[in-house]
Amino acid sequence: MRAIIIYATCEGQTERIAHRIAKTLTQHGVPTDTFDVARNDVYPLAVESYDAVVLGSSLHFAEHDPRIAWCIGENRQRLTEIPTAFFSVSLGIVSEHYKDRAEVQMLADQFLQEAEFEPSLRACFAGSLRYSKYGWFKKRLMHWIADKSGRQTEMDRDYEFTNWDAVDTFAADFATIVHNTRQTNPPVTNSPNAMMGNTDAGNDQSAAQRHPSMTTQ
Ligand SMILES: Cc1cc2nc3c(=O)[nH]c(=O)nc-3n(C[C@H](O)[C@H](O)[C@H](O)COP(=O)(O)O)c2cc1C
Repeated sequence: MRAIIIYATCEGQTERIAHRIAKTLTQHGVPTDTFDVARNDVYPLAVESYDAVVLGSSLHFAEHDPRIAWCIGENRQRLTEIPTAFFSVSLGIVSEHYKDRAEVQMLADQFLQEAEFEPSLRACFAGSLRYSKYGWFKKRLMHWIADKSGRQTEMDRDYEFTNWDAVDTFAADFATIVHNTRQTNPPVTNSPNAMMGNTDAGNDQSAAQRHPSMTTQ
């Protein structure tokens, strides 16, 4: 049994969250790989060899990354057969204004609807403000957006708003879904090891075989 987290990140916060989910899933008995669609070519990615998939994207200018929607489209059949989850990363979700928080949730729902994808679990996580990584214009734009959402920030330092307990809970909940699904639909295998209770035997592949660029937890 193995899961993969496919994510899209610009300044790295979605990647941090993806790696944390992978670590927690692995600790809960679901070994998990991670894969960044921004840095790697998705064509050789063998999604069909996984038993569970988590997709994650940050929000930029009210848009989730289209490469995640593309991955959903390319693997539609497999994604209907296994447990799946989706997480969105944004700043709007920690705004002091209800309207901003509702808008982020609406954008996540809309993204999933347009991709015709109904994950078993979904969540919106707070991201970060990486002023140290932004250029002159982006720095001021993000400062203005933060100000509008009720957060006084200084441009000479970075801010992280992610609630790591919420991320861990999401991962633990997904691990439960994966284990429950596996109990309901045990894998069909002819391997004699299955008789010994090792249901992964003969069903596992090395991460390098699945894709050369993935990280394994
Ligand atoms: C140029 C830019 C545009 C952004 N647009 C939005 C937005 O429309 N709504 C929102 O809630 N957050 C927005 N954010 C905040 C990001 O979602 C947040 O910084 C997140 O942590 C980025 O995740 P990443 O580092 O994985 O790309 C924006 C950030 C940047 C830099």
